[in-house]
Amino acid sequence: MNQLIKKIMGNNLLKGKRGIVFGALNDKSIAWKVAERAVEEGAIITLSNTLLAVRMGTTNELAEKLNAKLIPADATNVSDLEQVFAQSMEALGGKIDFVLHSIGMSPNVRKKHTYDNLDYEMLNTTLDISAISFHKMMQVAKKMEAINDWGSVIALSYNAAQRTMYGYNDMADAKAMLESVARSFGYIYGREHNVRVNTISQSPTVTTAGSGVKGFDSLVDFSERMSPLGNATAEECADYCIVMFSDLTRKVTMQNLFHDGGFSSMGMSYRAMEQYLKSFDGIKDENGKIIYG
Ligand SMILES: NC(=O)c1ccc[n+]([C@@H]2O[C@H](COP(=O)([O-])OP(=O)(O)OC[C@H]3O[C@@H](n4cnc5c(N)ncnc54)[C@H](O)[C@@H]3O)[C@@H](O)[C@H]2O)c1
Repeated sequence: MNQLIKKIMGNNLLKGKRGIVFGALNDKSIAWKVAERAVEEGAIITLSNTLLAVRMGTTNELAEKLNAKLIPADATNVSDLEQVFAQSMEALGGKIDFVLHSIGMSPNVRKKHTYDNLDYEMLNTTLDISAISFHKMMQVAKKMEAINDWGSVIALSYNAAQRTMYGYNDMADAKAMLESVARSFGYIYGREHNVRVNTISQSPTVTTAGSGVKGFDSLVDFSERMSPLGNATAEECADYCIVMFSDLTRKVTMQNLFHDGGFSSMGMSYRAMEQYLKSFDGIKDENGKIIYG
């Protein structure tokens, strides 16, 4: 019974804190789960997404449910971001304690351009939306003095930043940059305002952005078989974000934190090997040549 009440009421880990959650599109979004958990843990928050996403998705429903102001903004646009921080401080009645950057998009992935045939305009857009926006967010916040001392800023990453994953394409470059921005800005923000900046490297998760990756279902299955604890769900990712926003992790900064059931430390698992041994035919063409994709 106590467990149930705890689950419903939360543990007040974020009591009295103000947060901004970027990137909740629908109830599959990782940001959606983070927003719900943050409020459950006592925070008051605002939400932000692009105008198009607000029209196409169901972010409005979440805003209503959580009694959170929804501020449309393109995260690549500095004046939009200034509006998000200004309006959030006004709506929440003070400076911000935590920010979630849960934003990613690659036009090259969408248009199915392979990594050796990238459209460079599209690559710029991928990097701007998925990585540089994280820098813009923090530069805006710092100049506006919008984040409280000992605040926490998190962006979501993926293991393709370190290791090549078939089909992840130019998003791998964006994630590598995102993690680097966390370190570089984390140094300055930490030194000057004790604000901590980290990335959480999450398991493949069935969401709108995730499902756009080529071969995504196989990737989910493979990492599930490779991970001793299995893939981490969006809800579990939200739990981890809450701990990182809370005062329990005040000295954790400039880190890329793997939240992947152990996947990133594995080489080969019994479960993956069993599957691997089943067939080699699928990766050869009619002349017996290996297809690399
Ligand atoms: N789903 C996965 O397998 C997985 C794994 C690891 C990391 N991630 C990362 O998690 C984050 C959230 O993705 P998700 O899986 O919840 O998918 P999602 O599609 O629900 O969220 C992506 C969000 O990015 C927003 N967005 C796109 N362009 C934007 C812009 N210009 N300005 C502001 N917002 C913009 C979208 O509207 C959407 O809300 C992304 O950074 C993604 O790369 C996802």
